[in-house]
Amino acid sequence: MSKQPIGIFDSGVGGTSIWKAINTLLPNESTIYLADSANAPYGPKGKENIIDLSIKNTDLLINKGCKIIVVACNTATTNAIDYLRNNYNIPFIGIEPAIKPAALQTKTYAVGILATKGTLSSALFSKTSNLFASNITIVEQVGDGIVELIESGQLYSPEMKSLLNIYLEPMINENIDFLVLGCTHYPFLIPILLELLPNHVKIIDSGEAVARQTKVILESHEIFNTSSLKGKSEFYTNGNPEIIKSLLNNSLNVKYLDF
Ligand code: SIN
Repeated sequence: MSKQPIGIFDSGVGGTSIWKAINTLLPNESTIYLADSANAPYGPKGKENIIDLSIKNTDLLINKGCKIIVVACNTATTNAIDYLRNNYNIPFIGIEPAIKPAALQTKTYAVGILATKGTLSSALFSKTSNLFASNITIVEQVGDGIVELIESGQLYSPEMKSLLNIYLEPMINENIDFLVLGCTHYPFLIPILLELLPNHVKIIDSGEAVARQTKVILESHEIFNTSSLKGKSEFYTNGNPEIIKSLLNNSLNVKYLDF
């Protein structure tokens, strides 16, 4: 049993979609969330740079006493999680695009994936696709520009709608029946995607699966918080705290931190 917090980091505000799933499943756990918005987006950056940023975020969370770290960013997971697991003594949970459940359930044998360049070009993504989806068409799309619009508070803007229209068109033409969201920023797009996609297309994101996996790892390492009291949540950002508040809840404790 451990009352220490769960650390969660992302290139910005997107990983709060993962925080929300963890907080819903594990309300008694305390959490510390780091939004590295000053360095967003991670997607177009090189592997070494992403590893360096992940080390910086991890060191900060460990200094704040975290017992486990959730890398709530697909790009940081695919590029840096092996390094983190090999160099730190605490457990790390990563986020992978949910290609497997989409491949198992598709009836049209066509699945769309929207992710960053860093995720789609990673070895981990190729391995997962080859393993679980070799018999289906995967329509890959790099979501250039989406993270920047969300980070600058332009989620429901005309620019976002027109970008998404362009990105979804090839997927709709291939008759996809599942769209996999391969970036933790993208679940905030779900209301817009539902408007733009045909009714039969289902959207898959990884939030609930990551929360369940976090629970399993806390239990297996015997660091689960058995207290019946509700945990505390702290949010730190090196960007604009108002963006996280507007996406989640205006009464959240979000502080600016230069890191
Ligand atoms: C990004 O920072 O480019 C997106 C983060 C992600 O891949 O989840």
